Amino acid sequence: MTDYRELESEALARIDAAADLAALDALRVEYLGKQGSVSSLLKSLGAMAPDERQAKAPAIQALRQAVADALAGRKDAMEAAGLEARLATETVDLTLPAPEMPRGSVHPVSQVMDELAEIFADLGFSVATGPEIEDDWHNFSALNMPESHPARAMHDTFYFPDQAEQGGRMLLRTHTSPVQIRTMVSQGAPVRIIAPGRVYRSDSDATHTPMFHQVEGLVIDRDIHLGHLKWTLETFLRAFFEREDIVLRLRPSYFPFTEPSVEVDVGFALENGKRVLGGSGDEAGHGWMELLGSGMVNRRVIEMSGLDPDEWQGFAFGVGVDRLAMLKYGMDDLRAFFDGDVRWLKHYGFSFLDQPTLSAGVGARA
Ligand code: PHE
Repeated sequence: MTDYRELESEALARIDAAADLAALDALRVEYLGKQGSVSSLLKSLGAMAPDERQAKAPAIQALRQAVADALAGRKDAMEAAGLEARLATETVDLTLPAPEMPRGSVHPVSQVMDELAEIFADLGFSVATGPEIEDDWHNFSALNMPESHPARAMHDTFYFPDQAEQGGRMLLRTHTSPVQIRTMVSQGAPVRIIAPGRVYRSDSDATHTPMFHQVEGLVIDRDIHLGHLKWTLETFLRAFFEREDIVLRLRPSYFPFTEPSVEVDVGFALENGKRVLGGSGDEAGHGWMELLGSGMVNRRVIEMSGLDPDEWQGFAFGVGVDRLAMLKYGMDDLRAFFDGDVRWLKHYGFSFLDQPTLSAGVGARA
C-alpha cells in the first residue's frame, strides 16, 4: 500500500523534469494511458474483494488525481513559457504597410459616363434611361424611319421572334435615340436630358463591336435653335477634354429624325503620330475628325411624341462613349474594352475614389 507514495513521487519528479510537450505526453501515456501503470492499478480494483477495494481505492484515486494534476500543471507552465518566449523574440512592426487587398477598378466606359453626367448636370441636364430590348416603333418608326426606310439598313441589329401581341417586333436598340421619344411621351416638354447606355448593331471589327455605348442628348423648349446646339456641344467637349482650344466644324448631314442634321467634327493636331484634340483642323499639320451626329429635332418626331411642333423645338445629339474614352485616355483597340482582361482594367481602370467633379477636373486620376 505504501508503494503508491513512491510511484507518485517518481511520477511527479519525472513530470517536473520533462523537457518538452512531447516528453510530457509520453509520460501521460505511460501513467494514465490505456495500458498505463496508474490505469492498471485502477483496473485492478475491480478484481479485489470489497474490503480490500474499500481500503485501497482512496489511495489509488488520489494517486491518479495527483499525476493528472501534475501533468496539467506542467503543460500549462510549458505553454505559458512558450508564449513568453515568442513575445520576447517576435515583435510586431506596426509601421509596416498593411497587406494589399485585391481591389477592382472602374471601367473607363463607366468613368466617362460619370464624367458626362457631371458635365451635363452643371448645364441643367438630368439623366434618362430606356430599355435595351426596344420595340420597332421607338427605335425606328417614331424616329421618322418607317418600315422599309433605307436608313434602317445602316442600323442592322438583332431581332427577337415576332411577338405581335406585344405591339410588334422587339429588337436590341441600335442607338439611344429611342430615349428621346420615351422622354417626350412620358414627361412632355420642356426637356433637358442625356441618356447614356448600351446599344447594338451587327457589326464587328477593330473599331466596331456588336455592343457599344452611346450618350444621347435632347433639349426641347421654346425658341431653341442651332446656336444652342453648337454652344452646348462646345461647352461639353471643352469640359470633357479639359481644353479651351477645342474647335468644332459643323457639317451638313442627314438623319431621318433631325432636320437640319449636322455631323460634328473636331480639329486635332498630329503629335508624335498621335492625334491630339485642339485647334482648328484647317491649320497646317492638323485635321478634322468626325465625332458625333446631331441636329434640330425633326418636327415630325416632336409630333409623333405627342407635342405641338409649332410650340416646341429642340436639338438632339448622339455620341459614342467608347470613342470618347479612347480619345481621352489613349486606348487604340475598341475590342479590348469588352475582353474583360484584368490586366487591361488594371492599366486603364479608375479608382472608385476618383469621382469626377468639375472642380477637381472631370478626368482627374487618383
Ligand atoms: N442616333 C444617331 C446614331 O446612332 C446619332 C444621332 C443622335 C444623330 C441624335 C442625330 C441626333 O447614329
